[in-house]
Amino acid sequence: MEVKSMNTTAIIIGLLFLISIVAAENPYRFFELHVTYGDISPLGVAQQGILINGMFPGPDIISVTNENLIINVFNHLDEPFLISWSGIRNRRNSFQDGVYGTTCPIPPGMNYTYALQVKDQIGSFYYFPSLGFHKSAGGFGGIRISSNPSVPLPFPTPADDYTVLIGDWYKTNHNDLRAQLDNGGTLSFPDGILINGLSSGATLNIEPGKTYRLRISNVGLQNSLNFRIQNHMMMLVEVEGTHTIQTPLSSLDVHVGQSYSVLVTADQPAKDYYVVVSTRFTSNILTTTGVLHYTNSVEPVSGPIPNGPKLLRWSFDQARAIKTDLAASGPRQSPQGSYHYGMINITRTIRLANSVGLIEGKQRYAVNSASFYPADTPLKLADYFKIEGVYNPGSISDQPTHGEIFPVTSVMQTDYKAFVEVVFENSENTVQTWHLDGHSSFVVGMELYKWSPDSRKLYNLNDAIPRCTVQVFPRSWTAVYIPLDNVGMWNMRSELWERQYLGQQFYMRVYTTSTSLNDECLIPNNALLCGKAIDRI
Ligand SMILES: *[C@@H]1O[C@H](CO)[C@@H](O)[C@H](O)[C@H]1NC(C)=O
Ligand SMILES: *[C@@H]1O[C@H](CO)[C@@H](O)[C@H](O)[C@H]1NC(C)=O
Repeated sequence: MEVKSMNTTAIIIGLLFLISIVAAENPYRFFELHVTYGDISPLGVAQQGILINGMFPGPDIISVTNENLIINVFNHLDEPFLISWSGIRNRRNSFQDGVYGTTCPIPPGMNYTYALQVKDQIGSFYYFPSLGFHKSAGGFGGIRISSNPSVPLPFPTPADDYTVLIGDWYKTNHNDLRAQLDNGGTLSFPDGILINGLSSGATLNIEPGKTYRLRISNVGLQNSLNFRIQNHMMMLVEVEGTHTIQTPLSSLDVHVGQSYSVLVTADQPAKDYYVVVSTRFTSNILTTTGVLHYTNSVEPVSGPIPNGPKLLRWSFDQARAIKTDLAASGPRQSPQGSYHYGMINITRTIRLANSVGLIEGKQRYAVNSASFYPADTPLKLADYFKIEGVYNPGSISDQPTHGEIFPVTSVMQTDYKAFVEVVFENSENTVQTWHLDGHSSFVVGMELYKWSPDSRKLYNLNDAIPRCTVQVFPRSWTAVYIPLDNVGMWNMRSELWERQYLGQQFYMRVYTTSTSLNDECLIPNNALLCGKAIDRI
């Protein structure tokens, strides 16, 4: 795809606006991310990985609430590339979201400078490459947003923070995996599981008596994972930007795309202990171990590797026990829906049913029977430049149709400031995870079997956790409340990468007639242009 930068006049106009918007300043942080191929061999055989600044996984992006992050991404690959920011809300600014529907790909040999603001956000997230099947080759890294130093944490400051990126892994090159799907195939069972890019020996160093924060994200492609540490309890403290009621856990399920923080205290005899990650809900369980290493350790890891949970019921119980710590201070979502989400009237109910089927004889996935195909122009740019014929805002039903799967560039129109109930209905036999960009969703309920209006009686309308990535168990439903407080074009996708790639996603156009810059930013002055938007300014 041809891509151009906006012209100088646009840049000057853009800068003038930029200066006026950001006058009352939050600090800036500058990052450069250089994206290259490199040899990696996480499973003992060399394969082509995607490195960020020479690293696999990439470096952490570390910031503080409200800061402006200026991130210049240089694409040294021979393919178009984009990075997206899982869980970063990009308030008023879906242009910076870095997914197909919002941002033109960075052509090979070029760079693009993202300008994000982590407005009113704290917590643990990650970045990842959003196009093609790049995510299967790496290109991901942690994102950490600390509270403003004047805001006390609801727990003693940990001795250190560790990013723990876990995920299933394939030895197959990302282009081959992609070709496999393009040709109508599916992904096989993964070849292994990685902890911070390693299939064995990943090490977390701890000093006796001290407490550490582990920021755990599942950056894999397909599998829910269970995380545990031999002989150590973990205290759950944060889920995707919200402090939780502190709950001691012996193990933690992390579904694809999700992030959690736990505290671990070095309160055991000084030796090495297994850190264990294993697949959930698979008949053949894949397991990988790392090491929790006491700095004064006198003994290598030993003893049986602790087993993970087996029952689905266990996972339901753990998920439903995760509650918001309503007493913790810290930034919140917009006042609408922040403290008393349970008392706000629902303006619309959207039910989303995933399904699988064939289109022209090839494997596809769908939401309410709509299987997403990208158009030639990012949807946000089509919107911004009022280019007709790229998508229709009503191209996906907001209720299951149970009809045959059909191909479409699916966009669902919603109103800015609407307060919607979304019910994810999974009649399939696998765990799903869903992610909505730009927003946080209160997880009010999840149960086995079919949802009905009566199911609302089971909702937690008091202290449900708001999060960006939510699981839906096999033959079950999950209900969320979403304050649509962010104008823009936002991707709602399956985090299961085969499903996402083959159509289980759509865009939610959060729309207002207002053109106020308080509601939505202008297109960035350095925006790349492509498709039908190529000659626009
Ligand atoms: C590319 O990087 C240069 C600095 O090296 C920067 O001035 C320029 O704005 C970047 N390009 C884009 C499109 O962001
Ligand atoms: C919610 O709806 C009810 C019934 O329609 C109405 O009486 C109430 O005032 C509404 N509450 C809010 C906060 O708008």
